[in-house]
Amino acid sequence: MRILILGPQGSGKGTQAKRIAEAYDVPHVATGDILRAAVADGSELGGQVRPILERGDLVPDDLMVGLIRERLAEEDGFVLDGFPRTMAQAEALDSMLEDIGKPLDAVILLQVSDEVATGRLRARAAAEGRADDSPEAIRNRLRLYHELTELVVDRYALAGIEVIVDGEQTMDDVFAAIQDALEGVAAGR
Ligand code: AP5
Ligand code: MG
Repeated sequence: MRILILGPQGSGKGTQAKRIAEAYDVPHVATGDILRAAVADGSELGGQVRPILERGDLVPDDLMVGLIRERLAEEDGFVLDGFPRTMAQAEALDSMLEDIGKPLDAVILLQVSDEVATGRLRARAAAEGRADDSPEAIRNRLRLYHELTELVVDRYALAGIEVIVDGEQTMDDVFAAIQDALEGVAAGR
């Protein structure tokens, strides 16, 4: 299965992608996790992206596309979380999947209001202290989602492969809705 999970910051992409990865035995490819690991390692990439992450800005498209191209070439199936976020990234993903003859099976959109997303991220800031969960960075991340990533959401909706899931339900109910959607895809519904 090749699955894309989309949604605003705090919608539960990481939470649900981990469950999908386990249930469908596919790797969870999360660009935010890859970038945070690079920052923690103190690698050259980490040094370059650290200030960008802290502000809640987006890492340049060419860098992200290079990272994902390398990672996806190794995998048959995946649940991709955090990419694509811009039209340029979406176009690059389409062409790389076409090149390797492995189209997406499903695109899941977790729908959550800005209010709910902000509340969750503020709670996480208190619990985990992620560098980009400051009030300013949260505002910036959600602004970029509406300005740039919603165009990507519209693109997959137009292509007819996007399934919308209410992300404001409990974690278990969200996962049940995702499983239902993925079963529908597998059955050709
Ligand atoms: P990334 O790590 O992808 O962060 P994000 O998009 O800001 O999203 P989050 O991880 O904050 O939210 P999530 O949807 O995964 O929700 P989660 O499951 O954690 O990216 C970080 C940064 O890296 C970007 O800002 C950018 O700088 C850079 N970057 C990454 N990809 C890039 C790209 N392609 N291009 C350019 N730059 C890129 O849940 C959030 C909280 O809510 C948790 O505490 C969770 O426990 C809780 N929660 C989850 N579900 C529920 C529920 N149903 N009910 C109640 N609480 C819930
Ligand atoms: Mg995440």
